Amino acid sequence: MNNSHPHTPEEGTDGEISSKNHRTVRVDLAERSYTVSIGAGLISKVGQLLTNLPGRKNTGRAVIITDSTVRQLYCADVMGSLQQAGFIADHIDFPAGEEHKNIRTYEVVMNALLSLEPPIDRKSIIIALGGGVVGDLAGFVAATALRGIDFVNVPTTLLADVDAAIGGKTGIDAPTGKNLIGAFHQPRAVIIDPTVLKTLPAGQMGNGLAECVKHGVIRNATLLDFIEENAEKIFSFDADILTELIARNVAIKSAVVAADEHEAGQRAHLNFGHTIGHAIEAAGGYGLVSHGQAVSLGMVAACHIARNRNLIDEQAIERLATILKKLSLPTRFADLPPLPEEVHDVGHLQDFIARDKKASLGRPRFILPAGQLGKVEIFDDVSEEEIKQAIMALMK
Ligand code: GLY
Repeated sequence: MNNSHPHTPEEGTDGEISSKNHRTVRVDLAERSYTVSIGAGLISKVGQLLTNLPGRKNTGRAVIITDSTVRQLYCADVMGSLQQAGFIADHIDFPAGEEHKNIRTYEVVMNALLSLEPPIDRKSIIIALGGGVVGDLAGFVAATALRGIDFVNVPTTLLADVDAAIGGKTGIDAPTGKNLIGAFHQPRAVIIDPTVLKTLPAGQMGNGLAECVKHGVIRNATLLDFIEENAEKIFSFDADILTELIARNVAIKSAVVAADEHEAGQRAHLNFGHTIGHAIEAAGGYGLVSHGQAVSLGMVAACHIARNRNLIDEQAIERLATILKKLSLPTRFADLPPLPEEVHDVGHLQDFIARDKKASLGRPRFILPAGQLGKVEIFDDVSEEEIKQAIMALMK
């Protein structure tokens, strides 16, 4: 069972930092279970939270792995809290950006980690402080250093809060594709402070919000109502609303991961909107269309396929489009600044879809709403013509 509930002092897992505005969600994975703590101010309480991790004899050595941007913003806070809690703390950073999530950066970070004095040992803990790139790379370093040491995710983007930080997928990009080198390695805890989202570059919130809408469509349509009702407060960084938003999304992601850690089945539901979305993102060479924009278009396209199969009605597409528009996410190519021809060329996009690593026996895999928003199923039989029609619907 996963649960999401207001954290009260009686529960006692994080002692004096508890308050009515902090929430905890448990990721239930037997002996690898962990707690996601969410609340304003937690960024300066990381050390304190780590001293309460079950089964760890503290303190010892803690190493923050972060990127050049996040280091300037939050590394001092986290270092201070680790030292205050009695850890011997260090930090390693690498240049910010997806283009650095590669084997070269992995080598540099790993060598830095293994050269620390006094040396790390198998009881040392890594703190992945940053967005999805940091979590993926630092998590993979933790998975492989000394054959695997503990790590904790402290995500600093909404996208990482609600998606990448939960579930133990770690890894780096290969020249032949994204995330092709990696390991499943669950964090020992996830610590989320929603107030850090204020320093995100403009447009970054959309990347996380597209995943929040995705969670609503795949599991819980009332989350869509919550997002719609609270859109203004989300964009004005209301800490209580962000805490609630993140807790609800973490609860959905955690339940999916707990039911299918290694993606043998329903974890694939998290790819709703990503089959056509990834193709749009890749066709733009990455960076031209953001991940959130691409997933937004991908979700609308998937809904067109579902509607054409009579799995959902027109009102469901309209409902999805209304919410996406409220979040300033695109529902048609025309909602984006003018794009080079190839980004919305049907044949070019279909080539990318065919190459998608999630293709099953050469056929692209689609997650489609079935019956209503809030419920999805996996389809391996979507034809090229159906995909073409769905992409064309984005051009209207
Ligand atoms: N982001 C998809 C997953 O964690 O499975």
